[in-house]
Amino acid sequence: MKPVDSVVPVNPTWAQFWRLPGWSAKWLHSFPFNAADGMWTFSGRVALYHGLPSLKLPAGSTILVPVYHQGVEIDTLLAAGYRLRYYRLTERLLIDLEDVERQLDRRVSALYVIHYFGFAQPLAAIRGFCEARRLRLIEDCALSLFAQENGGAWVGSVGDLALFSVYKTLPLPHGGFVVTGNGLTSNGPRRVPLRPAPLKSTFTQSLDLLHAGLHASRWRRVEQGLTRASRWVKRALRWDRAGTISSGGARWDPRLLAYGASAWSVLLMRFMDPHQVIARRRINFARLAARLRGHLHLPFPDLPRGACPLFLPVMVPDKVRFQQRLATLGVESVNLWDASHPSCPPDLAAEVSNWRRHCLELPIHQELSLADVDRVADAVLTVLHLAGEAQPDAATALA
Ligand SMILES: Cc1ncc(COP(=O)(O)O)c(C=O)c1O
Repeated sequence: MKPVDSVVPVNPTWAQFWRLPGWSAKWLHSFPFNAADGMWTFSGRVALYHGLPSLKLPAGSTILVPVYHQGVEIDTLLAAGYRLRYYRLTERLLIDLEDVERQLDRRVSALYVIHYFGFAQPLAAIRGFCEARRLRLIEDCALSLFAQENGGAWVGSVGDLALFSVYKTLPLPHGGFVVTGNGLTSNGPRRVPLRPAPLKSTFTQSLDLLHAGLHASRWRRVEQGLTRASRWVKRALRWDRAGTISSGGARWDPRLLAYGASAWSVLLMRFMDPHQVIARRRINFARLAARLRGHLHLPFPDLPRGACPLFLPVMVPDKVRFQQRLATLGVESVNLWDASHPSCPPDLAAEVSNWRRHCLELPIHQELSLADVDRVADAVLTVLHLAGEAQPDAATALA
């Protein structure tokens, strides 16, 4: 494979800042940012941690959580002092309410649902279920900012508590958001005085975005020079990155809990147009899905009304090798969630092992043009072809 001179980044980076919408306050009018009781935090896990007290759950009670999870949300619930019990999902990662019913007893106080990759869980049914059983509903929207259920309720507007990881969808150095009371009423005991994110952290992660943007563009020489210069500066200043906090990653770091978002992250929101983000992601998703359909298994082949996809998930035979080969062709991807949390019973964890072993996430974000999306499709087809792994009847990957 020939070396490439630009990269398709898997997350938005500011690489094409001239295509960003102008300075406006549009973001303030979109859910969750227009919710009566919303609050910025450093990241999604911090949003969850500080939102939990508003639910007034009995101390040490049990929260039902899904078998397919990142792990850090589980750490957050444990750190907040709750017990956990796992429930099953369907083959398509929808909540299995019959299994949830089987897990109930007096100790269960809340149901935790994850909206995967920008696709809503069946919110009306879940809300009805929780009301009938007096359970509090926690919506994890870390992967699903700006998603709606069938064009109706916003994801995060139905639960008693919803958390968002804003920097996963938008190019911010960090930023989580929490909404309580369905976003309608102000019952905000969470007005916890969080400190603004440390300057060092904001600066470092803004530089990361700049690096990623330059790396993605044809300005890679500039990026290489900048990398060399920053290595030199770091050595001169004896800069230790671990000395400050970072958003993202699977490692539990309790230092994050003291922090909100920086004014810089919130200011950057003025360049975001939620409607444009949703529209662009949907167009890119549809294009990539159409190009890849029939070549490999697409676990989310269609776009329901209201979905705001974070990536295009695909099932591939050996995802680490597949990801490396894509990278050689200049296409970044994400290998989400290859390990279960240790607290998940192994027999239940085994039920989603296919997802953990085979699911790779391809870029479709708002900064990509259709030409970029075609480049992703071409790279995937090349990797499949080189490996002799094209699977016309690729449903086998999920069987
Ligand atoms: C499902 C889910 N919930 C919560 C989180 C925590 O979000 P953050 O990384 O913004 O703290 C993540 C992070 O990847 C996640 O994937």
